[in-house]
Amino acid sequence: MIQRQRIPFILMAVITLIGALWTGLVRVGWSLPGAATAPLNAHGPLMVAGFLGTVIGLERAVALDRKWAYSAPLLSGLGGLASLLVPTSVLGPVLLSSGAAAFLVVMLALSRRQVGPIMLIMCIGAVCLLVGNLGLVAGWPIYSLVGWWAAYPVLTILAERLELSRFVKISGGAFALLYGAIALALAGLVVGMSRPEIGVRMVAVAYLLMAFWFLRHDIARRRISQPGLPRFVAVGLLVGYVWLIVSAGTHLWVGAVTGGYAYDAINHSLFLGFVFSMIFVHAPIIFPSITGLDIPFRNVFYVHLGLLHISLLWRIAGDAWLWLPWRQWGALLNAIAIVLFFLATALTAVGAKVRAARGKAASA
Ligand code: HEM
Repeated sequence: MIQRQRIPFILMAVITLIGALWTGLVRVGWSLPGAATAPLNAHGPLMVAGFLGTVIGLERAVALDRKWAYSAPLLSGLGGLASLLVPTSVLGPVLLSSGAAAFLVVMLALSRRQVGPIMLIMCIGAVCLLVGNLGLVAGWPIYSLVGWWAAYPVLTILAERLELSRFVKISGGAFALLYGAIALALAGLVVGMSRPEIGVRMVAVAYLLMAFWFLRHDIARRRISQPGLPRFVAVGLLVGYVWLIVSAGTHLWVGAVTGGYAYDAINHSLFLGFVFSMIFVHAPIIFPSITGLDIPFRNVFYVHLGLLHISLLWRIAGDAWLWLPWRQWGALLNAIAIVLFFLATALTAVGAKVRAARGKAASA
């Protein structure tokens, strides 16, 4: 598939993300245009099943390089749009679940090409997304399925980091500990369906083990001394692991929550501090394979990365002290960091393209 044909997927992901930011900001108390009719419950589904589902689905479809594989980002993207436009209908959750099922088939096809634990972990991540989305269809409250959604990017990212850290010497015992942590997380998710207080704490212990494991073994630790992109990636990763510890530590402490300040802190230290930090720093590596555009690293990328983490600290401090204005301003700046990230990435890609075209013209 040529890159131009990927534009509709990218557009669907961007519209879904804008809808997710809008509903999130209204939910935290900002009176934005259309606030009165905003589908507030769509925020989580749009962010995780819609936006992440479409973008990660597109990346995997590109990797598999089969036309049918694009059904995964197509269905997830349409599911995101439906969740935004007809939020009370079951159409959105059904499309999102179909997208997740297609994504699982893509992951299984990819795992036949590369047999081993890394693809297995990614397939488990895909199953977690599917369970979460099916929960939406079944009408589970979002707080009871958000753990399944969180496991999807957590396992996907950790499997990718494991793959990239394959040149680091890691003992068999350390691997056994990591696989044990993954098994504990899965067991916790299952137990959490009937005994949430026990289940969420099992998952929290598993995430703490995983975060400390990666802080110790991820190749990022060695790359921090290298300038340019390697250091940028390492900074985003290492800070991301710390946010995973904050999220899991809070969950272990407060147990199962259904909304409010602790719920906000647990979800966003994980989804913004860990997942979006990874997206920000991996964008110069992954976006070129999706868009076909070169995205050379620029020091200015530290602006959106820094804003994301500082504003998140602000928001979480608001959550910790039960102080709404801090939470609101932190959340607004979180959204601005995401917008800046897209602007910086798009402008860098356009700049690189213009320079390449000029270079070609000059040498012709
Ligand atoms: C960047 C700006 C963001 C804002 C302003 C925002 C705002 C909010 C608010 C106010 C809540 C409700 C918390 C509560 O119950 O008190 C929430 C929940 C949630 N957020 Fe965000 N969020 C943002 C980013 C994200 C991101 C990046 C993700 C995931 C990738 C995400 C996923 C979720 C999920 C899954 C929930 C739980 C939804 C529910 O229970 O209905 N959020 N968010």
